[in-house]
Amino acid sequence: MKKSYIIANWKSNKTIHQASMWLEEFKMQNLGLQIFEKEIIVCPSFSLLSDMKSYIINHALPIKLGGQDISPFEHGAYTGAVNGEQIKEFADYVLIGHSERRKYFHEDSTLLEKKVKQARQYSLTPIYCVSDPREHIPEGVTIVAYEPIFAIGSGKPDTPQNVESAAQAIFKSNQEIAVLYGGSVTAQNVSDFIKMPSISGVLVGKASLNPLDLIQIIHHA
Ligand code: PGA
Repeated sequence: MKKSYIIANWKSNKTIHQASMWLEEFKMQNLGLQIFEKEIIVCPSFSLLSDMKSYIINHALPIKLGGQDISPFEHGAYTGAVNGEQIKEFADYVLIGHSERRKYFHEDSTLLEKKVKQARQYSLTPIYCVSDPREHIPEGVTIVAYEPIFAIGSGKPDTPQNVESAAQAIFKSNQEIAVLYGGSVTAQNVSDFIKMPSISGVLVGKASLNPLDLIQIIHHA
């Protein structure tokens, strides 16, 4: 059975109180053994990481944490940047190159490459997002999320067949990469993607904001 990744990208949402309500509700679903071979990763805003980590440890929840971004620099005089060493105190993963970062923060491939280097330096696993499967994947990336722009937040996911061919194209740069799909994933469509031979998981935005929706996605993944 292949391992599947279910990654929740909360984007710029939730206060500490709302995040704790989410965790409370998630805990009550008692996932236990049903998540065998599934890695559940929640990527909240940096401001939520500390409280969420404590809650997850105290209640032994089967959730790993990820950052949504990382500084391309080491610690130092870079106002506003959160560096790899700081993120590693709370998280094991980090999203890099999400199309919203590229669009609204003008991140380009040179910058993204530096971010990947920083992530690796602090043993954070980069989840590298691309909207075009032919895009260059920086060295050392082991998880790639293919997210076509038209499918993000639109309610119109790509087809599983297209995603399968995108994964094949990504494998040309490295056979070992785990390819995930993101873009309007729901409990209704997740299994169509997961059952494709080359797809190892999903990156979920909107539907992950509600814990019950995410639990349904986990069940069907
Ligand atoms: P969506 O977002 O699930 O809301 O389409 C996915 C993403 O942007 O990672």
